[in-house]
Amino acid sequence: MDIDVLILGAGAAGLMCAIEAGKRGRRVLVLEHSERVGKKILISGGGRCNFTNLYSNPKNFLSKNEHFCKSALSRFTPADFISLIEKYRIEHYEKKLGQLFCKVSAKQITLLLSQECHEARAKILFHSKIVRVQKLSAGFEVETNQGKYQAHSLVVATGGLSFPKIGATDLGYRIAQQFNIEVHEPQPALVPLLWNAEDLQRFQELSGISLPVQVSCHGQVFKENLLFTHRGLSGPAILQISSYWNCGESVIIDLLPDIDIQTWLIEKKKRKEKGELKNLLSGFFPKRFAQAWCEAFAPSRPLKSFSIPQLESIAHQLHHWEIFPAATEGYGKAEVTKGGIDTHELSSQTLESKKVPNLYFIGEVVDVTGHLGGHNFQWAWASGFVSGQVV
Ligand code: FDA
Repeated sequence: MDIDVLILGAGAAGLMCAIEAGKRGRRVLVLEHSERVGKKILISGGGRCNFTNLYSNPKNFLSKNEHFCKSALSRFTPADFISLIEKYRIEHYEKKLGQLFCKVSAKQITLLLSQECHEARAKILFHSKIVRVQKLSAGFEVETNQGKYQAHSLVVATGGLSFPKIGATDLGYRIAQQFNIEVHEPQPALVPLLWNAEDLQRFQELSGISLPVQVSCHGQVFKENLLFTHRGLSGPAILQISSYWNCGESVIIDLLPDIDIQTWLIEKKKRKEKGELKNLLSGFFPKRFAQAWCEAFAPSRPLKSFSIPQLESIAHQLHHWEIFPAATEGYGKAEVTKGGIDTHELSSQTLESKKVPNLYFIGEVVDVTGHLGGHNFQWAWASGFVSGQVV
């Protein structure tokens, strides 16, 4: 088979690039080491795939170069992906905050992508183990367990390191290193955080409790739910902030973001109301939480016995609970990988390497990481789309 474009990885980005390049009449071969397309799509969004976000914009992305993602995101928007979804009559709904999910199954998205590939005559070769990648005088050669393939353009769409159990590998980063292309250290992101030893003792019994909170780190703020796990903290608020957190740093949790608890507590004291602190706090939190929190920070006694400065300090602690997580849960639980191919090495218009003509890096392998809520797929679609116009 004569090939114009070789794509490594049949995930969201690789398939979108294959479809677009195929539509232009390019002869495309996708090399995928597993046995099927889009394994991450299938497990995403609890099996319903949060395939985009209505409000996706460059502010929803982390990167050393915050401007890099703008071009691709503006040329392939959430509305463009929704048109594709509607073409296939895939029923979908907005869960919250612009997050669009399939009503029935994420499998509908992989079927859509496979069908579009088929129509664009893009071929996919499964069980392809990549042995070697080589630059030729014109184009590239990829050696696999199934033979050698040559093409004019090579697109690396092998994703990040998250979820190794479904086939994530470091191939993309290794190819970058082979061609002297800078890589920012990959790290787990959108990932639960683990308690340090002291907090584990104090709070592990709270596993299962969920609270609406506001979390912050490095000036980034998210107002969402937090979930206590038996090892630490999870839930959308924590997953979001984990992308900004570095080991050794703290995260600030506002347990009552919509309430001026200081005024409330002082008013109660002034009115000489009866009741213990933990019982009063149970009006805002599950009882188990109010009790554990009081044991940790303000041993419970009648409210009226606290001085005003003590109540001010309790209120401060409720609005500024500073935690020092020990670590993240790692790649086994991380939804994405932050870091990756340095965007200064790539054209923001095409995702082509500036050093190595006709070599492209797209999707999660690039140092562009979305917030939770459909933004990572939107980046995969958009970067796949723009590269597909030129490969
Ligand atoms: P992706 O990882 O999808 O694809 C890479 C492909 O390359 C895979 O098919 C892989 O098998 C293949 N590959 C890897 N190494 C290879 C090698 N050495 N040789 C050959 N092939 C190789 N995002 C979102 O927007 N909404 C959501 O709901 C979710 N939910 C979610 C849940 C879970 C559990 C995870 C782990 C992730 C998400 N995400 C998400 C993130 C989203 O899945 C992710 O950002 C995109 O799939 C990235 O698309 P890529 O195509 O870049 O990589």
